[in-house]
Amino acid sequence: MFRFLAAALLVLLTVPARAEDGYDLWLRYRPMEAAVLAQYRPLATAIVSQGASPSLDAAKSELTRGLSGLLDRPVGAGTVADGAVVIGTPGSSPLIAGLKLPLTNLGKEGYLIRSSSVGGHAVTVIAANSDIGVLYGSFAFLRLIQTRQPVARLDIASAPRLKLRLLNHWDNLDGTIERGYAGRSIFDWNKMPDYMGPRYTVMARANASVGINGISVNNVSADVWMLSSMYIGKLAALADVLRPYGIRVYVAAKFSAPVELGRLKTADPADPQVQAWWKKEVDSIYRRIPDFGGFVVKANSEGQPGPRDYNRTQAEGANVIADALAPHGGIVFWRAFVYSEKDPTDRAKQAYNEFKPLDGKFRDNVFVQTKNGAIDFQPREPAHPMFGAMPKTNLALEVQITKEYLGQTTHLVYLPVLFKEILDWDTFAKGQGSTVAKVIDGSLEGHDQSAMVGVSNIGDDRNWTGAQFSQADWYGFGRLAWEPSLSAEQIAREWLGMTFTNDPAFANAVIPMMIKSREAVVDYMTPLGLHHQFATGHHYGPGPWVSDLARPEWNPVYYNHADAQGLGFDRTPSGSDATSQYAPPLARLFSGPDIPERDLLWFQRVAWDHRMKSGRTLWDELVVHYDTGIATVAEMEKTWAAMKPHVDEERWSQTATFLAIQKKEAQWWRDACIAYFESFSRMPMPAGHAPPPHDLAYYKAITFPYAPGRPDYTSAPFHNRPNDPME
Ligand code: GCU
Repeated sequence: MFRFLAAALLVLLTVPARAEDGYDLWLRYRPMEAAVLAQYRPLATAIVSQGASPSLDAAKSELTRGLSGLLDRPVGAGTVADGAVVIGTPGSSPLIAGLKLPLTNLGKEGYLIRSSSVGGHAVTVIAANSDIGVLYGSFAFLRLIQTRQPVARLDIASAPRLKLRLLNHWDNLDGTIERGYAGRSIFDWNKMPDYMGPRYTVMARANASVGINGISVNNVSADVWMLSSMYIGKLAALADVLRPYGIRVYVAAKFSAPVELGRLKTADPADPQVQAWWKKEVDSIYRRIPDFGGFVVKANSEGQPGPRDYNRTQAEGANVIADALAPHGGIVFWRAFVYSEKDPTDRAKQAYNEFKPLDGKFRDNVFVQTKNGAIDFQPREPAHPMFGAMPKTNLALEVQITKEYLGQTTHLVYLPVLFKEILDWDTFAKGQGSTVAKVIDGSLEGHDQSAMVGVSNIGDDRNWTGAQFSQADWYGFGRLAWEPSLSAEQIAREWLGMTFTNDPAFANAVIPMMIKSREAVVDYMTPLGLHHQFATGHHYGPGPWVSDLARPEWNPVYYNHADAQGLGFDRTPSGSDATSQYAPPLARLFSGPDIPERDLLWFQRVAWDHRMKSGRTLWDELVVHYDTGIATVAEMEKTWAAMKPHVDEERWSQTATFLAIQKKEAQWWRDACIAYFESFSRMPMPAGHAPPPHDLAYYKAITFPYAPGRPDYTSAPFHNRPNDPME
């Protein structure tokens, strides 16, 4: 008896009823609160579906899983009755066809969710023109219930504003991830194609739930093996897993593949043998993956081969690959992240200078994939001047979901705020209202094609993204790529409701915390338009003093230009004149006295005693911003501490611990940057603001030899005894 009791007790202790670790993402489907169950149960009693296909099956099984979980009782396939959820397309379901629903404007991927009547029964209809649309609609219906929206009288039509909504994984074939902070790659290539682990399907469900319809699977600094027959075979198996979820696979292709893989003497795009090689390669990929998406290409950038090696333009390089893909409907995402080690021009100007003259020269199935800003995924960048300047070219917006320059795993920075800032940015290309969103959705210039790309933040960590709150960045990227007009608040509300709880007390506290987290990181890392102040290579922590790297534009001093007179990069006509790459109203604004102060040091060089709008000097204002950043993180920490009753132990305490790390590191950023800039300004600290506790030499000596995210950068020099910033 005693033994039995002990065993029972052990079971009770080791199986906590509601343990959560983030693995289920926003698709947790935990039972609703008892108070609302009675309201929802009669509205989703069974799933009625005619026709069968892998995507319809995915929709049915998601609804079964989701409704059964949320409503806390089995909801399975059934026949038309009150409360049934009737799903399908007019093509495969006579029931849906009979309803004569207005589906024409929804395109291939849109959906309609409508409360309706079938045979005298009150039902909910989820209809679309394609099975994928039905799957998207099913996720949307579940989201309504997950976020406790009313579902009794629905009439919702939704279609994606952007056609291609892609993740770029920067995963290496050896399992490491460039700029990855959530473990190793989830792609276990060695075991493919025979073993296809369960996480690919979970990932596919998560992507489909927010409408992501493509992934490129390997690092843009590409390994040519990815194009080998062996790896294409593995990729074909992955494509089979992802296909039911509407996700196409893409590959980052190395421009020199014709030489490395094809054993040709050249990769010159004008060479007929090279053209034939790409055609042969592409044809053979499509034989194995009929819906292959296409290629992402990083060419002539950071050591990657490209058309300029053969005196050809970026367009000639892109087009040779595009021509091979065109007969199959494939796409080239040709990256605009190009700057030259030989060109002394301001790095911020180089991509525009190279690509703008090529406007109109790219094939229709080419996107020029342009980062949100002209430098490199900084906490804040003005929008890239190419947006609005290439009217005859398909431009795709590339944002970074992995937080290379934003504190990596442990800093809570809610990125949809940053993404929105760019999408809503007015380029003035065709007068006021020419936003980046309208450039990339094709509406500004009447393009058919449209795309948004996010550099993925997922790895094989249990919670996928390393930190619970980084899941919101993946979620928010997908939601915005589907509908750029959604607000960051709304996305946060949805995600919090699905991921944690819909309790208004929780949302009311945590939404503002998420929204202000973005400005906090700008404040404590790079306020007032400062940029690229990061430690060498791994970009973890501050390094505003770094000046010893081989290329000038790799050095933070290149960007801050700090000296005894002042601070900032003069990009006005008297400096590098990067401002002239923007439409005239912006060019004037950024060169003049009315420049928004948040972009000041990006575009202008300013004296230390320059009077800011607040009446403070630049120096004082800078210090105030650094301290505001820290104060905001301290508030975030407090907010989260008060949320303990709302969140399960593991997810709450991980977030609480990460916030504490963030606060420590915000302080480190502030102290190190102030110590460095003070060595030039020689001005006293403003009243009420403490000087850094250590001298500059202390901060300079801090090293992180094995910081993650830069696999080829692991042999950092060991400087005597490195300081420990956590001391
Ligand atoms: C950044 C990043 C690199 C990456 C590059 C790119 O420079 O640090 O790791 O390869 O962007 O976007 O190609």
